[in-house]
Amino acid sequence: MQKLLIIDDNDEVRRQLKWGLSKGGYELTFARDGVEGLNMFKKQEPSVVTLDLGLPPHENGVEEGLRCLGEMLRINPLSKIIVITGNEEHGAALKAVQGGAYDYYKKPIDLNELKIIIDRAMYLQTLEQENQDLRDSSVADCGIVGECGTMQEVFTLIDRVAASDVPVLITGESGTGKELVARAIHAKGPRADKDMVCINCGAIPENLLESELFGHEKGAFTGANRTVKGKVEYAEKGTLFLDEIGEMPMSLQVKLLRFLQEMVITRVGGRRDIEVDVRIIAATNVDIQEAMQNGTFREDLFYRIGVVNIVLPPLRDRGADIALLANYFLKRVSAGAGSRGKAFSPEALEYINGYDWPGNIRELENRVKRAVIMATGPQIEPDDLGINGGDVLRQRLHANDLSLKEARMLLERDMVEDALKRESGNIVKAAASIGVSRPTFYDLMKKHGVRNA
Ligand SMILES: Nc1ncnc2c1ncn2[C@@H]1O[C@H](COP(=O)(O)OP(=O)(O)OP(=O)(O)O)[C@@H](O)[C@H]1O
Ligand SMILES: [Mg+2]
Repeated sequence: MQKLLIIDDNDEVRRQLKWGLSKGGYELTFARDGVEGLNMFKKQEPSVVTLDLGLPPHENGVEEGLRCLGEMLRINPLSKIIVITGNEEHGAALKAVQGGAYDYYKKPIDLNELKIIIDRAMYLQTLEQENQDLRDSSVADCGIVGECGTMQEVFTLIDRVAASDVPVLITGESGTGKELVARAIHAKGPRADKDMVCINCGAIPENLLESELFGHEKGAFTGANRTVKGKVEYAEKGTLFLDEIGEMPMSLQVKLLRFLQEMVITRVGGRRDIEVDVRIIAATNVDIQEAMQNGTFREDLFYRIGVVNIVLPPLRDRGADIALLANYFLKRVSAGAGSRGKAFSPEALEYINGYDWPGNIRELENRVKRAVIMATGPQIEPDDLGINGGDVLRQRLHANDLSLKEARMLLERDMVEDALKRESGNIVKAAASIGVSRPTFYDLMKKHGVRNA
């Protein structure tokens, strides 16, 4: 339960608030003056405070109230402080808000009104606290969220390699955050104030890739009517990120190896060796060991780029991070859409945890974005996420990894789907055939993402 601290020297006001707010769903504490108030504030860490400005020893002034306000905000800048003022203290109230108070309220107190302000402050405080917690759990402002053991190891590795110049190979399924990790390594290292230049080795046709990487001289090939620098030169003193390196053609792998060994490049059609100083980070989602066995990736190149290998786990193996990330994206998307955040329904969270996320974090992010747009109800349901709940649960049923509650959900879903099929989409008949009302049947369809085809 969230805590509310009431600081007021007037016995009558404290009694009124105690009576009026005791059923408000928060834990109440009271203080009669600033000193007691500050003690309570430190001990109880309340989310919201109502603060009378006219406190002893200056009952008729506002000095003591303003002093307490400043002190509390210094201790916890996220706390929401609602200043309560007498009629003649309008200027002081504004000053308090300028000084960081959440809001002010003029006596006499109307309990219903005050309660609305308190509830809103509580809500905002929760959001801000959650955001703060998320920031704390993302690696030093690089935006990587993760609390599971494997990700903690990844964070340690990022910190360790960032300071040096060793080449790093980041591997992991598509959408597991390889580029994000590359950016974190760059941002935390001594080259941070220079660029990280990215090149996608899988997306550029073989005959253009060499010139993309190393540049070309004027006249090197038809259409080369001026000298162009390559990505390597643009990355000078910074970082070169070789994305999808597993897709690099063999012919270029030799040239890349030479560059990595000697840190010199030759532009296509040029003769001059150009010395470069770049840090190399590479990423791939193909299994390099397998590629080496198949002879599509050079072993000597692997030993060059893979001095340190950071392996990113698939999302489905990250345990509680799945829900953490889902909520992280939900907040981000809702804030962007300016909407007052909806939460996931318990069913939606079960599906999120049970789904095997082949597209990993990128898929999660996209599905959450979609859900924020699609959700019409008060909460986000599995259907809004576009996850086929039946498939999720069935997969886990076969893996013997289903709780009784989930097994019930699966049965419920199957019965709804079967009833619809049996009655050829006639909802009234389908509902009757499994003994529920029509509105209940609609709710069940929505909950399990069953569509009437
Ligand atoms: N741990 C994380 N915390 C927060 N956001 C993340 C995390 N991991 C990935 N993302 C986000 O997920 C999306 C995909 O990440 P990224 O592009 O780094 O993955 P990738 O492994 O390079 O994918 P691909 O193999 O498809 O290129 C990005 O929007 C990224 O910001
Ligand atoms: Mg990528």
